[in-house]
Amino acid sequence: MHSDVERIIYSKEQIENRCIELGKIVSEHYGEETPIVVGLLKGSVPFMAELCKNIECDMEMEFMDVSSYSGTVSNEVKIVKDIEGSVTNRSVLLVEDIIDTGKTLKKVKELMYHKGAKDVKIITLLDKREARVCDVQADWYGFEIPNEFVIGFGLDYNQKYRNLPYIGVIKKSAI
Ligand code: PRP
Repeated sequence: MHSDVERIIYSKEQIENRCIELGKIVSEHYGEETPIVVGLLKGSVPFMAELCKNIECDMEMEFMDVSSYSGTVSNEVKIVKDIEGSVTNRSVLLVEDIIDTGKTLKKVKELMYHKGAKDVKIITLLDKREARVCDVQADWYGFEIPNEFVIGFGLDYNQKYRNLPYIGVIKKSAI
């Protein structure tokens, strides 16, 4: 375990096993369809990779990078890197490491419909429902977590710890 981690809340094995289950659910849901699976950079990368290994239906992969700026009045979600292909009349699956306030996914979901997607679903490794301020829900999630600051498996603190193979709580001394 990394010396900045206070405790592990989901181990590598637990995450891998949950991704097998989620992969099966997603594969059965889409069946003969070929969804466009969109990972939101950077946090989703490890989950996207683990999930996609377990998706058995045909799928396409895209990545998008959005950043949110907290202004005095409202939060603006800015597209840093957009997807490359068209989503017109396609099913889109948005992949996240965590849904916190929900602001990012609410905006990205709206954007996908605006681009002509026929259906937009959300899958997230972690669902922090207590922190939600927007009316947006995951269609599928790995684990529900309380309102605690977690790192690992894509989640960072000042860009560090994304490479940890587990989800953990950071030590106060490391903040
Ligand atoms: C994190 C996370 C989600 C978003 C969730 O991304 O990966 O995209 O915040 O928060 P929200 O539900 O309150 O919108 P961040 O902007 O930190 O970028 P990152 O993926 O590069 O870490």
